[in-house]
Amino acid sequence: MASDVERDGAIGRFPFPAYANGWFRAAYSDEIAAGELKPLFLLGRDLVLFREADGDAHVLDAHCAHLGAHIGYGGRVEGKGVRCPFHAWLWDGTGRCLDIPYGKKIPAKARIRSWPICEKNGLIMLWHHADDEPPAYELPDLPPWGSDEWSPYEVRNWKVRSRWLDMNENAVDQVHFRYVHGARTIPETEVEVNGHILSCRSRMKLGTPQGEVQGGIDTTDYGPAFQTVHLTGIIETMMVNTSTPIDDEFTDVSFAYTVHRIDGADADHGVGAAIIRDLEKQMGEDIVIWEHKKYYRRPLLCDGDGPIGTYRKWMRQFFSEDRSV
Ligand code: FES
Ligand SMILES: [Fe+2]
Repeated sequence: MASDVERDGAIGRFPFPAYANGWFRAAYSDEIAAGELKPLFLLGRDLVLFREADGDAHVLDAHCAHLGAHIGYGGRVEGKGVRCPFHAWLWDGTGRCLDIPYGKKIPAKARIRSWPICEKNGLIMLWHHADDEPPAYELPDLPPWGSDEWSPYEVRNWKVRSRWLDMNENAVDQVHFRYVHGARTIPETEVEVNGHILSCRSRMKLGTPQGEVQGGIDTTDYGPAFQTVHLTGIIETMMVNTSTPIDDEFTDVSFAYTVHRIDGADADHGVGAAIIRDLEKQMGEDIVIWEHKKYYRRPLLCDGDGPIGTYRKWMRQFFSEDRSV
């Protein structure tokens, strides 16, 4: 029997880098009010998030370019910038130094790295690229955001010992719905790729007290860390899933659920709440597998497996180095 290394040429759980190129959640918009700042640790880095008094959010590297204080601990927002707690240098959202209260001249090299930000759908997203290239695609405006027809987000977070691009293979892994989540049948799954967008359409039978109904899961990935899941069959539900690597081992996975408010349905009671509880249960079932599995570059697939190869080919575009994921 060949060992994993002989078979796959890979040592360790993942043959691909921990941090893909794309938009990643830095925070939900309501986690940071105007004039506030917040330390973050994500993508293996210390960062500081702040919101100007007039509303724009920014993310900077956390450590002040002067003598290295972490601005997220004790700094304060002042107008369009953030004042370091150590010697009071003032930095704007582009990482430029605006003021040194006790110095006559601002050194030419006084800069802190600023990260591209996009705030929409109630999320502050940050652009990461291994080679510092600018954003390559835009995120969509989602219909439920700001609409009275959809319930406010119900947010759930998990810290998972895995990487999202491996966890997310779930959507195209049609067989696992039967054996991990107890679906009555193996769903039929179709996948379509359109540049940075991957759409996956699954249809399955759902058991309800009123008998079997046809259920649908339409998953759309916009890049490596922003996904919508549209569920139909019982009541219409949408999940906005964002996953940000914390470091090379753990990922901060967050699902924001919203329910289409038809006939009084909502996310915090009745059928809407029951669907959310079921999705959380499914997440628990998945996490046990994800935290302990290993990613094979060359898996041993059979004819009944879903379109896993298509998913993996799509995923490769988000890595600067081709490591044959
Ligand atoms: S370390 Fe920030 S002002 Fe000195
Ligand atoms: Fe799953």
